[in-house]
Amino acid sequence: MRKVIAIDGPSGAGKSTVAKLIAAKLNYDYLDTGALYRAVALHLKRLGLDANSTDQAIASVLGKTEVAFRNGRVYLNNEDVSDEIRSTDAGHYASVFSTRKPVRDYLLSVQRDTAEQTNLVAEGRDMTTIVFPDAYKKIYLDATVDERMRRRTLELTGRGQEVDDHKIKKEIIERDMRDSGRDIAPLKKADDAHLVESTGLSIQEVLSAIMNIINDISVQGKTL
Ligand code: DC
Repeated sequence: MRKVIAIDGPSGAGKSTVAKLIAAKLNYDYLDTGALYRAVALHLKRLGLDANSTDQAIASVLGKTEVAFRNGRVYLNNEDVSDEIRSTDAGHYASVFSTRKPVRDYLLSVQRDTAEQTNLVAEGRDMTTIVFPDAYKKIYLDATVDERMRRRTLELTGRGQEVDDHKIKKEIIERDMRDSGRDIAPLKKADDAHLVESTGLSIQEVLSAIMNIINDISVQGKTL
């Protein structure tokens, strides 16, 4: 395995924005593992599978599937699905199918194979706990539900969409419960991960807090 900087945290904590910036700074590759889960879920959904499908049915499809993340784009059997996976629906199905063992087993090897080829900044839900337990640096990036709701609302209104704050908050809470409450590889902070609480911080402030951790720099007596 090459060097991996592993970042976990709940949906909307700002992991992808900051992971991309760190990767660019260090000249590492960026791995968005949520995109892999979204692509797999899209594939299963397109083939008519759902939450009631058996493990055997899911495993049989995945045995004939190739998913890859290259240069910021995600490919499903060589089809670029990077834009299609960004919908709220795709996020929902990714969260649903990611509770399933065949999906996790399949993506575990995709993720570890990627780290054999290049240095990575990898972000997701189980980077620090399951996929890369020996990562070079481990970060748990958090933010309150209200802060994540605020960021999501800004993002959607920025794209010209109408938003319902209540609905967004409900979706965030549901997603947190599913991602943290599942039996296999639930989202949680690894004992040896550094906690970065990003509520109220700008992207530059989060970036510098994480770069301090990576560079082992203590600020005002504590490692941020
Ligand atoms: O980070 P995201 O919103 O794109 O992730 C979509 C879903 O994929 C997330 O709700 C749970 C799942 N996921 C996971 O289970 N493990 C990961 N390492 C990354 C994502």
